[in-house]
Amino acid sequence: MLTPPDDDALQRRAQELRRLLQHHGHSYYVLDAPEIPDAEYDRLFRELQDLETAHPKWITPDSPTQRVGGKVLDQFASVRHAVPMLSIRTETDTQSSGALNFDARARKELGLTESDPPVEYVAELKFDGLAMNLRYQQGVLVQAATRGDGETGEDVTQNIRTISQIPLRLPSGVPPILEVRGEVYMRRDDFEALNERQRQKIATGAKGEKTFVNPRNAAAGAVRQLDPAIAAQRPLSFFAYGVGELTSPEQGGPAWSTHYELLQALKGWGFPVADQVRVVLGASALVAYHQEIAAARDQLPYDIDGVVYKVNDLALQRTLGFVTREPRWAVAHKFPAQEQLTTVQGIEVQVGRTGKLTPVAKLAPVFVGGVTVTNATLHNEDEARRKDVRVGDTVIVRRAGDVIPEVVSVLPEKRVSGAQPFTMPAHCPVCGSVAVRGEGEADHRCSGGLYCSAQRKQSILHFAQRRAVEVEGLGEKLVDQLVDSGVVNTLPDLYRLGFSHLASMERMAGKSAQNILDALEKSKETTLARFLFGLGIRHVGESTAKAMARHFGQLDRIVQASEEQLSQVADVGPVVAQSIRTFFDQAHNVEVVEQLRACGLHWPEGKPSATAMQPLAGKTFVITGTLPTLGRDQAKDLLEAAGAKVAGSVSKKTHYVVAGADAGSKLDKALELGVPVLDELALRKLLADQNS
Ligand code: IVH
Repeated sequence: MLTPPDDDALQRRAQELRRLLQHHGHSYYVLDAPEIPDAEYDRLFRELQDLETAHPKWITPDSPTQRVGGKVLDQFASVRHAVPMLSIRTETDTQSSGALNFDARARKELGLTESDPPVEYVAELKFDGLAMNLRYQQGVLVQAATRGDGETGEDVTQNIRTISQIPLRLPSGVPPILEVRGEVYMRRDDFEALNERQRQKIATGAKGEKTFVNPRNAAAGAVRQLDPAIAAQRPLSFFAYGVGELTSPEQGGPAWSTHYELLQALKGWGFPVADQVRVVLGASALVAYHQEIAAARDQLPYDIDGVVYKVNDLALQRTLGFVTREPRWAVAHKFPAQEQLTTVQGIEVQVGRTGKLTPVAKLAPVFVGGVTVTNATLHNEDEARRKDVRVGDTVIVRRAGDVIPEVVSVLPEKRVSGAQPFTMPAHCPVCGSVAVRGEGEADHRCSGGLYCSAQRKQSILHFAQRRAVEVEGLGEKLVDQLVDSGVVNTLPDLYRLGFSHLASMERMAGKSAQNILDALEKSKETTLARFLFGLGIRHVGESTAKAMARHFGQLDRIVQASEEQLSQVADVGPVVAQSIRTFFDQAHNVEVVEQLRACGLHWPEGKPSATAMQPLAGKTFVITGTLPTLGRDQAKDLLEAAGAKVAGSVSKKTHYVVAGADAGSKLDKALELGVPVLDELALRKLLADQNS
């Protein structure tokens, strides 16, 4: 008989489980390289939980089960920092001078002359979160504190324990006293998901819930949450960038000589350190780092608001020392802000090429993300309602990278009285046609089609753009005039323009009129792909147009292709195929195509690709019985030439059975499985249809 394990053995097992979970947690959360499946991790976790439930006195504060579970607080206790948490001087110029000034100041303070070698720096990211001090005693996390005023912060240990990336226990050999400093932040994807959950809660009537303006705001809210169970549902992350109090080298603490060594040690002990940390030499390398990170900024999964430069040599850091509350050995070099405050002067509804109605906030001009912004999209009715943007409101606008600027949120306390909520108009603001919102769709569309001058203008601009047939110089202003004056209604009208039409338009001197005529002439020589893209068929972007041109080679083949044949083109799915088919089913669209050709638009037509010549590619046939005129081999040859596969037996995967006289069990099977059955006539018709 097996004796049950004694308490000693169980307690050792609990210890072993803690060690295993800590190791695998680090691989998963910090290194992003899990070594075991999630299910196995969960199993180990539950085993430890069960042991601890049975023996509560075995629970240690550093147990992975103790990340959540603290009690709800009334307020946070104050923490006096053993070593003050300083701030750093910030250079707000977004060019190179911030880096050059810093290097010049450091060199001067160090008494270096031009002939001395360049100073070595560590360049880091400036994370946009909250500074945190993590205190470890004998390798165990005992306290986490916010920066506060730099001297005194708040004890937020319960909440910080919920951050999986922060080790609760460090490997043996770490200094007995160790304070790690770094930034608590929220990843952008975690932020989006959190806001989505918040929206759901609000939609189901939950009281006191709100969405967050940005990841920094959400992170700050989570850290200062009095209920650790709620904090645990707000996914936070952490990056280490420095240390606070530390056992001195005399007492056996580490004797690092550079900041980089310090960071490597923290990484080795299990703290996340950003991959972008770099040792660089001299001012020009700082400038290069600033530029490189600025360019990569939008691809990072979290927000940064600049970079930080630090003198690498710790002895030099000591020489440089501090001015008031800022070290002379470090500086933050900012990027242009991606968010700014401004006011909404109006809300306009714009009509796109396909009739989509987009509410756009007209803003008091504001410099954000490196450009002056006057418009910000509100996307659609639901978004505009959700954000409840009203004329007169003070709003936060965001412009990140090349993405179109958007309104992040409204400052409700600044709302002027009498401001009215936005409603989507029932009619197109340009042509007055009914605005419709399809079921399950977010967008309203003008139902006016080409009757709507806004849609006509956009279609013309789309056709004339550089990536389509390219009519150089045909811009928005000119198209507005041509359409508004009734001279141009359709695409072919463009090619019927005479010199006098153009010269009579505003700001069109004789020379520019002639330039447009030349550009129109030049645009006639094009390619099938550009022409197709230019037609503005819904869902047909540049790459789909190219794939179709390659596949079919000739326009007429596309105009006549069935949805099934269209679906054979790489990256054309059923929705796109249907959209193309619908487009060419409209007589007026075919008419436009014909007229454009009659106006002289032309392109080299190619041979259809091998698969286009094989209209039955991917289809399986079975032939059974005796056909009236075709021999069985002949039928097989015809089918195979069209790309079909001819199989010997009927299954669910068979597309068609071709049956003649005296067909036996195969016909029965086809009828049983519901496989379509063709006679010779139907087969001939199918082959003829596919080849037309
Ligand atoms: S070092 C003595 N490094 O920026 C130097 N700070 O005023 C102490 N920050 O709120 C700071 N990223 O939380 C340092 N890589 C980085 C940083 C960083 C962000 C924050 C810090 C503080 C502010 C500095």
